[in-house]
Amino acid sequence: MLPKRRRVRVGCPGGAVTSSTSPLVLFPGVAIYLAEPRMGRSRRAFLTRLALSKGFRVLEVYSSEVTHVVMEQTSVKEAICWQKHMAATLPCCPHPALLDISWFTESMAAGQPVPVEDRHRLEVVEPRNEPPSPVWVSIYACQRPTPLTHHNTILSEALETLAEAAGFEGSEGRLLSFRRAASVLRALPCPVTSLSQLQGLPHFGEHSSRVVQELLEHGTCEEVERIRCSERYQTMKLFTQIFGVGVKTANHWYQEGLRTLDDLRGQPQKLTKQQKAGLQHHQDLSTPVGRPDAEVLQQLIEAVVGQVLPGATVTLTGGFRRGKLQGHDVDFLITHPEEGQEAGLLPKVMCHLQSQGLILYHQHQASCLETPTYLVQRSHTMDAFERSFCIFRLPQPSGAALGGVLKPCSAWKAVRVDLVVAPISQFPFALLGWTGSQLFERELRRFSRKEKGLCLNSHGLFDPEQKTFFHVVSEEDIFRHLGLKYLPPEQRNA
Ligand code: UTP
Ligand code: MN
Repeated sequence: MLPKRRRVRVGCPGGAVTSSTSPLVLFPGVAIYLAEPRMGRSRRAFLTRLALSKGFRVLEVYSSEVTHVVMEQTSVKEAICWQKHMAATLPCCPHPALLDISWFTESMAAGQPVPVEDRHRLEVVEPRNEPPSPVWVSIYACQRPTPLTHHNTILSEALETLAEAAGFEGSEGRLLSFRRAASVLRALPCPVTSLSQLQGLPHFGEHSSRVVQELLEHGTCEEVERIRCSERYQTMKLFTQIFGVGVKTANHWYQEGLRTLDDLRGQPQKLTKQQKAGLQHHQDLSTPVGRPDAEVLQQLIEAVVGQVLPGATVTLTGGFRRGKLQGHDVDFLITHPEEGQEAGLLPKVMCHLQSQGLILYHQHQASCLETPTYLVQRSHTMDAFERSFCIFRLPQPSGAALGGVLKPCSAWKAVRVDLVVAPISQFPFALLGWTGSQLFERELRRFSRKEKGLCLNSHGLFDPEQKTFFHVVSEEDIFRHLGLKYLPPEQRNA
């Protein structure tokens, strides 16, 4: 019998899966967990309903209560990886039986749990003295912690270069494949030293595996080096790093034969106001912004915001919130605890900052919160909040010592700053969306859509079946509604 597509209700964290018919528990000693990886969402929902209707208890979230883990189309090796992964997340959890789907179907047919026999079990004794065994890594980046510092920098940077180069060629699919593989490496608990460790890892296709193999065997990868040295890659990188220049524009200029910043400066008619400002301050803007600069900016902005609207708050988001020590810009989210008070705040704040001589350039983008479609739009980067893309003139401490030598440094530095204003009811979504990383956000939205049938963006979480929005007061609430373990910002460096 084929499963009918119907969504399991989310929002019962840690508890049993709810069903429209109230389930009667006939076998209290048995708590089934259906491990999803190879099963898929709709199949899992179908099996859950079947078991509930026969009086079995099915838990949605893996916990110490689980007595029987049921898997489908999963190899013994994968099952063991999965168990190790779960043991790491729940260290005091007793090991439940790892069972093939055959135990489940026989139990359903019998109308009661059948005794577990060896033929049902997925466990075998692990052979000793094998090379490091593969670890279990969840498929979606939002299901696994990804710290800032990790064990596979060289490998992940090589794959990131391939992702970036694919992006320059407009190949979104290849960009995502390489980026996902790089992100998996960042989430691993140890360095990859042998190719066998890639076995069973999600998102490792033939190409990414080949790159890792070459790096492990020779220390470099010919393809990656060729790309890094190529005129195409270097020019596209140079152009796309300019404020206001995307891949399309950079490619257009490249096709026209432009190669250097001076080539661009020689063709001012081709440049927007934003790009001119970007070029003018290029040297400063291409130097990473440090955390101390981000903190000074926060104080400056907080002072002005507090003056214009007492009670309004300024939150540092983006990479700095994830614990990064440097960034290409500084992202701030502004809100007020009383809904609606934030309206009209940004132009006043910009005026004050300008009068203090702190703004070299700014571009205001009005809020589109009045347009009815913004809540369900799909785009993973653009949202409808009121914002200002700025270049700040950040005062620098005079005569900063560098490497023991006094560097004649200028009195100020140009820094890219994004100011975004969100109403308090949408603040947790905006905070989650603007904290990143970009891949983490993409994966979170893909997970919501594909696994939960819900639509997530920086404004809200929408259930298209029920036509309802989820009310939340924190990021934790959002993870809970999605049935995900909460990940703090420093573990979202996917
Ligand atoms: P950034 O591009 O600033 O990245 O976007 P970052 O992680 O802070 O990295 P660096 O250090 O500056 O290079 C921060 C987050 O804000 C979201 C992005 O998706 C990312 O997750 N964002 C950015 C938006 O939602 N909308 C935008 O228009 C821009
Ligand atoms: Mn940023």
